[in-house]
Amino acid sequence: MDYLPIFLDVAGKKIVVDGGTTVAARRIERALSAGAKVHSFDPEPGEEVRAFFGHERLTHHDRLPKETDFEDCHVAYGASEVAQRDDALYRWAKAHGALANVADEKEYCDFITPSVVERDPLTIAISTGGAAPVVARILRARVEAMLPAAYGRLADFLSGYRDRIAEKIKGGTARRRFWENMIEGPVGDAFLAGDEALADELIRNDLAQGGAEKLHRGEVWLVGAGPGDPDLLTFKALRMMQHADVVLYDRLIGPGMLDLVRRDAERINVGKQAGNHVMTQEETTALIIKLASEGKRVLRLKGGDPFIFGRGGEELEDVAAHGIPVIVVPGITAAAGCGASAGIPLTHRAHAQAVTFVTAHGKDGLLPHDWKRLARHDQTVVVYMGLRFVGEIAAAAMAQGVEPSMPIAVIDNGTRTTQRVVVGTLEDIGEKVAKARLKGPALIVIGSVVTMRDTLGIDVTAREEAHTMELVARDGL
Ligand SMILES: C[S@@+](CC[C@H](N)C(=O)[O-])C[C@H]1O[C@@H](n2cnc3c(N)ncnc32)[C@H](O)[C@@H]1O
Repeated sequence: MDYLPIFLDVAGKKIVVDGGTTVAARRIERALSAGAKVHSFDPEPGEEVRAFFGHERLTHHDRLPKETDFEDCHVAYGASEVAQRDDALYRWAKAHGALANVADEKEYCDFITPSVVERDPLTIAISTGGAAPVVARILRARVEAMLPAAYGRLADFLSGYRDRIAEKIKGGTARRRFWENMIEGPVGDAFLAGDEALADELIRNDLAQGGAEKLHRGEVWLVGAGPGDPDLLTFKALRMMQHADVVLYDRLIGPGMLDLVRRDAERINVGKQAGNHVMTQEETTALIIKLASEGKRVLRLKGGDPFIFGRGGEELEDVAAHGIPVIVVPGITAAAGCGASAGIPLTHRAHAQAVTFVTAHGKDGLLPHDWKRLARHDQTVVVYMGLRFVGEIAAAAMAQGVEPSMPIAVIDNGTRTTQRVVVGTLEDIGEKVAKARLKGPALIVIGSVVTMRDTLGIDVTAREEAHTMELVARDGL
């Protein structure tokens, strides 16, 4: 972050705007809406600036500014698009201790102006640190579209209960939860649906019933994070990540994902890597139970879907046995994510009428699958956790009578920017994968759907090739 985001209190304070342009008009508008006393300067202001004439807190001067105009000035905006005026404005603003901002002149800016969404009293400011203001503007448009205008009124309405809530509910965490439950629960729903009386009644009831007691109860949320690309998170997963007190995650949680967790939430890495256990399954479950028993909202973030080779069921059995409430949020499993991002449909009327998900190994090592039954021409088999055994799996399948020419693909780091796909047949895949030195996590897809990758024309190869070239340059693969 290159800039410190702050909101300045300028109510009743002097702000100077130099210029008669559209940009000047926007600066005047924002300064007036924040309650400032605005002094604008321009001998021939444009229509948009003139539109503010008559505002009780605007004084327009039909001339250029001079140094004395900057006395007691808090913020000075340059929007004249005249270099000499910009230069003078910056010098005089600095001489009088004002913050300066000259449009499109970075060296004359003490601060940058963000893109703003206003739902008074709610203000959302978006900035790219000056790197790409258009991105901020596009995001602003999205937020505008997403945020019902009533959110501002909701904030106003709830502010009337602040003191009563603070008095009734002690403790920062409990109070934060009370607010969250109100905004995202029946109170917020009632208000946004236009029933202010019902919203008021619900808050009063909650406060009268000592809602705080309920708030001290812990919960466990088992949430699927998808295969790695943060854009593949569900809305529900994201919402819960924003509300958890503590997040337990493992190595399948891709980079960028944890940035979406509430800033103040505790993050615990319980990640397991074959042969390198940070925490055993039993230790993880015991920790989840301990944290929930302390009244925390514990989010267990799992790669893919928690109930597909995620041991989610095992973790929950013990949690439920302790009477702790649980919520499960599904995620996109690796097979679905990797199939899509590698251009391999898992079913296709000409290739596969069934798809089976198997894990390569269980508690006691490599599983003795019946490959002749699984790897057939009319169906697809997706193998999780098989990267280290791909040669053995191919050899076992061929030994059981599956044709050596059966297509097979290994998708490494599927859906991520580092995705790589190795395609071959049972006969040559072991060698190809060894040569590619894939790092995992990786998924194996066996079946003729793999050949669709060449015909679908999904634009995946450019990204993979770019990443492979990077590796060749770095490691000489
Ligand atoms: C313990 S399982 C967890 C599966 C997860 N619950 C799911 O639904 O995707 C871990 C295996 O999932 C597969 N996997 C997970 N994320 C992957 C990714 N981004 N690319 C390829 N394979 C992935 C790999 O086979 C990995 O060994």
